[in-house]
Amino acid sequence: MPYLRARMNKILAKPIIIAVDGFASCGKSTLAKDLAKALNYIYVDTGAMYRSVTLYCMENKVDIADPKAIDAALQAINIRFERATEDASLRVLLNDRDVTFDIRTDAVNAKVSDVATIGAVREAMVKQQHTYGVDKGLTMDGRDIGTVVFPEAELKLFVTASTDVRTQRRYDEMIAKGMEADFELIKANLLERDRIDSGRAISPLRRAEDAVLIDNSDLSRQQQLEVALRLAELAAKGGSDLSE
Ligand code: DC
Repeated sequence: MPYLRARMNKILAKPIIIAVDGFASCGKSTLAKDLAKALNYIYVDTGAMYRSVTLYCMENKVDIADPKAIDAALQAINIRFERATEDASLRVLLNDRDVTFDIRTDAVNAKVSDVATIGAVREAMVKQQHTYGVDKGLTMDGRDIGTVVFPEAELKLFVTASTDVRTQRRYDEMIAKGMEADFELIKANLLERDRIDSGRAISPLRRAEDAVLIDNSDLSRQQQLEVALRLAELAAKGGSDLSE
């Protein structure tokens, strides 16, 4: 992609934090990753953290309704991100085991929103997420980054796309990976996750007042990146009212 190459290691006026929030499968991870690459920033996928906790609870038969069991599980969980040496892709390590693929199964998809409603889990994840922002130069994607984790982020993006576009993207992704895929089932799962994520009592998914809305239903990956990079340039120069 010539555009991505041309924009590689773009230097902003100062390092900033870019919070990227949005619904399931709306392309926010793609955007946050592309931004990190273009700006030479750290990228953190907070969904992967909630997924790792979920996988741990499933594998260790943790009763997620029992606060003591959750506390013990959180004590025993160590989540790290690492760059693969071969292709520089980001790996997720749960207690030193590579779970990059294991956290993306249907079984984890079906449980993760429930685990993400637990206050103690969110507290532990947010605490770790704060450590990544110390030196700025960070893009982080999730559901509560602009509202709870980094409400002071210089740039907040709220990414969205129509339900059918999101379903089709997830469908294509699964087919490309050789997985079985059912459009209506995927759509129902996405809508159910959106419902739980937006309706939970603690840190529900919502657009921060000062977040810029990017509807990428009709945008290519490059166009989306171009829009976000322009906003990042403005934000780093101290631009206000970016959401207007
Ligand atoms: O982005 P994702 O699909 O990998 O996220 C997995 C789940 O984790 C999703 O149901 C919402 C939850 N999540 C959250 O509650 N807060 C975040 N910051 C990130 C993800």
